[in-house]
Amino acid sequence: MREFVKLTANPTNNTQHNFENDDCLRKKTWLTPALGSNRVLPHCEGNQLVLLTGKKGQMTRAFKGVIGEQSVQVGRPELDFSRPHEIQEILADYSPSCLINCAGYTQVNRAQDEKDLAETVNVTAVKELALYCEKKNIPLIHLSTDYVFDGSGNDYWKESDVCNPINFYGQTKLHGEIAVQENCSKHLIIRTSWIYDEEGQNFLNRILEVAKSRDVIKVVNDQKGAPTYAHDVAQGTWDLYQNLINQETFASGIYNVTNSDITTWHEFAVTLFELAHPHLENSQLRTIEPVLTEEFGDSTPRPLNSRLSMQKLNDAGVVMPHWRDALTRCLDNKFGVNHGI
Ligand SMILES: NC(=O)c1ccc[n+]([C@@H]2O[C@H](COP(=O)([O-])OP(=O)(O)OC[C@H]3O[C@@H](n4cnc5c(N)ncnc54)[C@H](OP(=O)(O)O)[C@@H]3O)[C@@H](O)[C@H]2O)c1
Repeated sequence: MREFVKLTANPTNNTQHNFENDDCLRKKTWLTPALGSNRVLPHCEGNQLVLLTGKKGQMTRAFKGVIGEQSVQVGRPELDFSRPHEIQEILADYSPSCLINCAGYTQVNRAQDEKDLAETVNVTAVKELALYCEKKNIPLIHLSTDYVFDGSGNDYWKESDVCNPINFYGQTKLHGEIAVQENCSKHLIIRTSWIYDEEGQNFLNRILEVAKSRDVIKVVNDQKGAPTYAHDVAQGTWDLYQNLINQETFASGIYNVTNSDITTWHEFAVTLFELAHPHLENSQLRTIEPVLTEEFGDSTPRPLNSRLSMQKLNDAGVVMPHWRDALTRCLDNKFGVNHGI
């Protein structure tokens, strides 16, 4: 999650708030000796079972929505990445055709202080997932981030560009990518950015929340990237996977998957507030002021240039919707707007 909004009820008295941030499944009872509990293990005969890690996360929810009953989620407390040595045993009896790792340590600021936990979740546990998928001979789809880059320059980052993370979260995500590449021959590493959905603890919901009580907020306007609707990452990734899985040889690799075009956090905030305003009761928000990252006073360095090139994804036959279109659909879904289609 991200920290990027400075709230000012009174411009001379700034207060900074940090946040980031089956039917097809025939069920059988599975006794897990290690945990001593009866569990229901999904089993999908004649169909392809996709295992999703995580339960309440934005991307787990999005993949569940796109893949539907063909997918099953496994997450905490049963599967806890802070105990990576348990992962192989817990997943042993599943027979997925593919595993999508949506779970991760996503607290960018806190990662600087919780280094061991961030590394265990984003690297050690990911290596265990990679080894599991290699043993089962199935593809691992792993979510990564624009934060593997240092954000220099103004060019769009290609998948083959040199990584140079500038904060600890980014370092763990890069090491997680390497763990996947080194331990699992069939893999897709999906680099995405600035994710939001209707429900998550994300930028969109934070803006809507603070609009209830603040008349002025400051939002950074020199970090450039693509705000991305979790649903669209899931759909784009799933379409890519379908295209690749039907080829003779599974073409493992890294793919950038974000909504198309770029903006700044400030322009995104202004646009989302304009679109959401008719649905907001008692909004106090009058001004969204642009502010430079260096003025913002964030203790964790963040990349200024998060433009990710979609060329490789487009060449693989997947075209992503524009971020404005995605934002409109997300807000329509959130506020239950029906265009009569
Ligand atoms: N959010 C972004 O802007 C962004 C941008 C680029 C890339 N990504 C990457 O996309 C992936 C998904 O992000 P997201 O936005 O969906 O994150 P999120 O909403 O913060 O959800 C994080 C997920 O990870 C799970 N998790 C955290 N610690 C865990 C642990 N110790 N053991 C097991 N599960 C654990 C959570 O489990 P519970 O369900 O139990 O809470 C949750 O399902 C991550 O790999 C992230 O690095 C995110």
